[in-house]
Amino acid sequence: MAFSGLFRTKDIDDVVEQNSDDNPMSESEGPRLARRLGTSDLIGFGIGIVIGTGIFTLTGVQAKNNAGPAITIAFLVAGVVAMLAAICYAELAAAVPTAGSSYTYAYSTIGELAAWVIAWDLILEFALGAAVVARGWSGYLQDVFGLPQAFFGEEDSVVNIGAVFIVVVLGVVAAVGIRESKWVTNALVVIKVAVCLFVIGVGAFFVKAANWDPVVPESKPAESASGLKQPLWQWATGADATAYGVTGVLVAAAVVFFAYSGFEAVANLGEETENPEKDMPRGLLGTLAICTLLYVGVCIVLTGMVKYSDLSEGAPISDAFKQVGLGWAGILIGIAAVAGLTSVILVELVAMGRIGYALARDGLLPRSLGKLHPTFHTPVRLTVIIVVGVAALAAFVPIHTLAEMVSIGTLFAFLVVSVAVLVLRHTKPDLKRPFRTPWVPVVPVLSALACVALMTNLAVETWLRFLVWLVVGLAIYLFYGRHHTRLAKEEAARADS
Ligand code: ALA
Repeated sequence: MAFSGLFRTKDIDDVVEQNSDDNPMSESEGPRLARRLGTSDLIGFGIGIVIGTGIFTLTGVQAKNNAGPAITIAFLVAGVVAMLAAICYAELAAAVPTAGSSYTYAYSTIGELAAWVIAWDLILEFALGAAVVARGWSGYLQDVFGLPQAFFGEEDSVVNIGAVFIVVVLGVVAAVGIRESKWVTNALVVIKVAVCLFVIGVGAFFVKAANWDPVVPESKPAESASGLKQPLWQWATGADATAYGVTGVLVAAAVVFFAYSGFEAVANLGEETENPEKDMPRGLLGTLAICTLLYVGVCIVLTGMVKYSDLSEGAPISDAFKQVGLGWAGILIGIAAVAGLTSVILVELVAMGRIGYALARDGLLPRSLGKLHPTFHTPVRLTVIIVVGVAALAAFVPIHTLAEMVSIGTLFAFLVVSVAVLVLRHTKPDLKRPFRTPWVPVVPVLSALACVALMTNLAVETWLRFLVWLVVGLAIYLFYGRHHTRLAKEEAARADS
């Protein structure tokens, strides 16, 4: 097979055509995903996947060990980076409304190999993301009911049966279909937003300004963050490992970027959206704007209620209320967190099914895997495989290892999308763009640079794990995908005729 095959691109007009409802070809491939989602559904879906373990759990440990009260700044920095990426996402998501999100964009712009790498990266993001949140869910359950740490917590964990249980239950809900999943998700989204508003509104009465001083704790040497645990840039420049200070805030920003991961799953729903040209940019940007506001509000109040050094690492929000004497509120928040985190796991599982569906449809994974169930209209086989994989990860891998991997995978995907916006403006200047990223090339360039900057603040060991994942993906493409891709078969058929 020609080497140039690695750079073959899908024609965007074909992608759009392939997904238009009046395409007769679509009927020959089994039942299609139904179009029934509007802007508010997309925002509900987005919030369902975005607000989760990032704000409920990582806030405490990052404020305590890296950023102090400036955890608020870390969330703001991460939010701005996510917002820049979302603006780029919105342009492509509206122009190429199809399952697969940045995978399809890369396929239409950079080429097949890059598209596969992106999809492989998205699988990492959603699989590990679901595992992180399942472990976070299990941790809150442990906290509320005093269950054994070995099977529900992070300390002395043997096997996390709480996480496995919730992944399997939600896997069944995802397999039954988006309509049911959407209903359950919406109910849980309301609870989650209510918790954030409760923390901001009630917690504000317990804020002591002295707790915010100093906003950025002074930088100091940190043995525990040396070697492979050092941020890449520090390791590369030979700088000494430190905690706190501006460096600490940037490390915290890179880690809590996890809290914004998942919003791009909204873009995966292009095929199920009534009017993707309008709904998609509104859905993506609306989701992020709401989440950033809530996160910043929660961080300001939380670090004002309790001195950063006294924050709990396992359940910081409920514990802060216990520390100010509102034990009942702490328990209510714990129960609501358990409910709210459920929606995140569910949406991540559904999103992964969508990506796998797009890959199988294009022949990069076996086609039989992507077959839609005749009644549920979901890729059931894929869902079963996903659930088994996520449950295995959630059972045995520690939460912090998984969370950093999600951050690097997400930032990498955003980097590619930002570049894709630039490439597409040159290679397809006439493409119909219902939403245009403003100030091109400034915004996509800034977005790409910001993603790289945050990535260099992640640990060397995270980079190494990420590279191993990419190498495994490359092997799958070289030994399977490139021999079975639909695009190559179509090209060969055209050449023969
Ligand atoms: N962004 C999601 C969370 O914070 C994955 O849990």
